Amino acid sequence: MAARDTGRAGREAPDVVVVGGGVIGLATAWRTALRGLATVVVDPRPGGGAAGVAAGMLAPVTELHHGEETLLRLNLASADRYPAFVAELTEAAGTDVGYRACGTLAVALDADDRAQLRESHLLQRRCGLEVAWLTGRECRRLEPMLAPGVRGGLRVDGDHQVDPRPLVAALRTACQRAGVGWRREAATELLVSGDRAVGVALAGGDRLTAGQTVLAAGCHSGALAGLPPEVAVPVRPVQGEILRLRDLPGRPPLLHRTVRAVVRGAEVYLVPRDSGELVVGATSDERGWDTRVTAGGVYQLLRDAHELVPGITELPLLETRAGLRPTTPDNAPLLGPTALPGLQLATGHHRNGILLAPITGEALAASLTSGELPEYARPFHAGRFAGDTGRRVPA
Ligand code: GLY
Repeated sequence: MAARDTGRAGREAPDVVVVGGGVIGLATAWRTALRGLATVVVDPRPGGGAAGVAAGMLAPVTELHHGEETLLRLNLASADRYPAFVAELTEAAGTDVGYRACGTLAVALDADDRAQLRESHLLQRRCGLEVAWLTGRECRRLEPMLAPGVRGGLRVDGDHQVDPRPLVAALRTACQRAGVGWRREAATELLVSGDRAVGVALAGGDRLTAGQTVLAAGCHSGALAGLPPEVAVPVRPVQGEILRLRDLPGRPPLLHRTVRAVVRGAEVYLVPRDSGELVVGATSDERGWDTRVTAGGVYQLLRDAHELVPGITELPLLETRAGLRPTTPDNAPLLGPTALPGLQLATGHHRNGILLAPITGEALAASLTSGELPEYARPFHAGRFAGDTGRRVPA
């Protein structure tokens, strides 16, 4: 693909430029192009970024935390959309995206873990979620390779997974086929003329003007030069390290569903793919833009995963990676119109970027065509950290 391919926009200024070709930018561009808007994605490496590191859990229930009940509704709504989204994407791209409706088992190893898991269960039940409490023996009946010390767990049949790498590859193809154009270079500055955003300046020196600009650059979104002070984009990087192992050939898979736990206060999860890959994640550290994998991070993940499933130490270790979650002060995304007409946000998805891709694409496509976020997305409107009500309709 050429560095410059303007897609359906041809030589005209596109209707929409999406800054950032990660899973959120691509889902937004695809859905927007399907609504008939000429759309261009600006990214030096579309499909790179956090999705290349993410485990791909679709886990609204097992990733529910106190204070995030409103976000839960959005997460559940996006999880509900996943089967149809995957079917449409698979059809559009002609490739499989590794969606697996396998369910999740969250387990406890000691009395403290069990108390914490009971707390999670209470919260889940208060939120009306269907989750079954299992004894240790029942957990091992479902997953025989679990450690004998597992004392109990929660069976969550609706928390599934998708493989983020084929997912973004399919989104790239679907975008291409829907006529999305590409500028494979970095955006260096937001262009503002009068009182509205009119596009972005590019690293190669070009100015790409567009009717509307969507900032979907993950944790880099707040760093784009030219953002006026009234547009707050409080997104910071939260680093996560992750490992990829592989089941032994000729042996049955170690696990059949996602298994997760909080071990000595740190979350660990194991995500088994149909391909035999076993993803072990993830650490969570506030250390700026550092994406180096540390010995300590790998040690922590292997130690905790080994306590849950001792057999993992026999598996080949294929890869260690670190990525940056784009995190906001309330752990929820920033969506839709900002105080600057012509500029919309699709960023800040923290731990839920893969999960929220379908609903973000849908919500942004709606707000780019109508000027307003759909009702379900309004609690996450982009102006909430700038004191906006979120009811603005851009000019
Ligand atoms: N959603 C899993 C993670 O962020 O580690």
